[in-house]
Amino acid sequence: MPEETRDLSAVRTALRRLYKDISGYDIPRDEEKAIRERRGSPTYGEINVGSVQKLIEHLELGADDVVYDLGSGVGKMVLQVAMTTPVRKCVGIEMAPSRHQGARAALARARELGLLRARECEFYRGDFMEAALADATVIYTCSTTFSDRLMRRLTLKLSTLSPGLRFITTRHPIVRHGFEEVGELRLDMSWHRRSPVFIYRLPSKSRERRAPRSNIKRP
Ligand SMILES: C[S@@+](CC[C@H](N)C(=O)[O-])C[C@H]1O[C@@H](n2cnc3c(N)ncnc32)[C@H](O)[C@@H]1O
Repeated sequence: MPEETRDLSAVRTALRRLYKDISGYDIPRDEEKAIRERRGSPTYGEINVGSVQKLIEHLELGADDVVYDLGSGVGKMVLQVAMTTPVRKCVGIEMAPSRHQGARAALARARELGLLRARECEFYRGDFMEAALADATVIYTCSTTFSDRLMRRLTLKLSTLSPGLRFITTRHPIVRHGFEEVGELRLDMSWHRRSPVFIYRLPSKSRERRAPRSNIKRP
């Protein structure tokens, strides 16, 4: 994103333009059912633009970072990071096909308008539990409505990733699997103001563990 459009009101305006006819709130019943059958949560809500900015500043995202949003909805968080930071890669993974399509359409518009600062930005459709995340340095997930079982499985999966990985979650991970809590923010979300957001970090002792393979198909 060009320098003059990096202030928050310009970011809001740019996102409004990208998402003028795209919303993640209503999805077809069969998509909801498919997510439930895979033990995901179809419930929708979004992190606010100002909150993403606070997160970016707190994490000091830079050129070496690879950021994933697990359950990325229509991709606003991913696109905001991609438009306002020089990260190496920014990826959203979403199970609901209609939300994923919305994210791809918004990304295409952002590319056309020359709004991206990140070196790479991609959206993949699929279950994040099956995704390859080996290059992640930061993983965000809006996990508020995830089941205890999903949180446990997700935290275990992430605990096999690279030392130093930062895991940002709106729900405590239930079992930490070696993650240490390094911070907590209060951020405004679409459903609640000043919602707790927990920041965990993977210390170097997990270095020997291996990341699971992915069967998510690349678009
Ligand atoms: C609360 S929304 C968060 C949207 C966005 N990350 C944000 O914070 O603005 C959670 C999203 O996770 C998706 N989801 C839930 N379980 C999933 C799974 N196992 N794999 C991929 N996406 C999943 C839902 O379809 C939903 O779009």
